[in-house]
Amino acid sequence: MDMKKIMIVGAASAIAKEVAILFAKEGASLYLVDINQGRLEAVEGDILARYDTKIKLDVLNVLDFERHEPVFKRAIEALNGLDAVLIAHGTLANQEETQQDIEKIIREFNINCVSVITLASLAANYFEKKKEGLIAVISSVAGDRGRMSNYIYGSAKGGVTTFLQGLRNRMAHSNVTVITIKPGMVDTPMTAHLPKSPLFSKPKDIGKIIYKAMLSKKDVVYAPGYWRLIMWVVVHIPEFIFKKLKM
Ligand SMILES: NC(=O)c1ccc[n+]([C@@H]2O[C@H](COP(=O)([O-])OP(=O)(O)OC[C@H]3O[C@@H](n4cnc5c(N)ncnc54)[C@H](OP(=O)(O)O)[C@@H]3O)[C@@H](O)[C@H]2O)c1
Repeated sequence: MDMKKIMIVGAASAIAKEVAILFAKEGASLYLVDINQGRLEAVEGDILARYDTKIKLDVLNVLDFERHEPVFKRAIEALNGLDAVLIAHGTLANQEETQQDIEKIIREFNINCVSVITLASLAANYFEKKKEGLIAVISSVAGDRGRMSNYIYGSAKGGVTTFLQGLRNRMAHSNVTVITIKPGMVDTPMTAHLPKSPLFSKPKDIGKIIYKAMLSKKDVVYAPGYWRLIMWVVVHIPEFIFKKLKM
């Protein structure tokens, strides 16, 4: 495995934690970043109870944009370089509340789109100089088409997806892989308030898909893969019909 030094932002997320466990099993050193020290320590404890590997923790509220670069530099220093960066943080705010409040819209966009773009850009500029590396980002199927029930979250993820298309095109000339991960619905704290259906996946299964996608250097990954078909259908519903649906 050529990915021995990995930085994960949003590392305490239910999905990213599963990816961290799989890399730790292979002996990778991890730089784990998230907003809450206690939850980061819990992830660290969980990993170290199973595998003997190097883990460094760093607390970051991604809304503190001026701290992105220092955190990134600390990660490079702590692990003596980076091979891969996984960006996984996110929030799913209540759509109806958020659409009524400009401050909340800006906040959701800053967390789910702008901060992802700035962190991915730092990683890209670093890997471009090295002429190697991998950037994996968790976007969402929600970014494939705006729907009334979650178009603020969805359009932030759509922005990330389009940004990554361009970044992938740029990085392909520098031997750097850029992976867009689009999970469908996953049973995590983020979706705890939603009624569950058979379409919900387990974080462990999504973590495995992301881990494998990183090893095989995929471009765009739907997780699980059947979401590619579901979203193909959703994207191809004519707009004059789609706009009348309540979804
Ligand atoms: N669950 C789904 O159905 C689903 C579907 C598609 C895509 N995704 C994406 O998958 C990724 C992982 O989400 P998840 O489902 O595993 O949910 P999760 O367990 O709630 O993870 C989200 C993580 O982001 C952190 N975070 C939130 N605001 C932050 C901030 N301002 N600065 C730094 N970290 C912050 C959260 O910390 P706190 O909890 O401490 O606030 C949490 O650790 C997200 O990008 C999400 O959008 C999820």
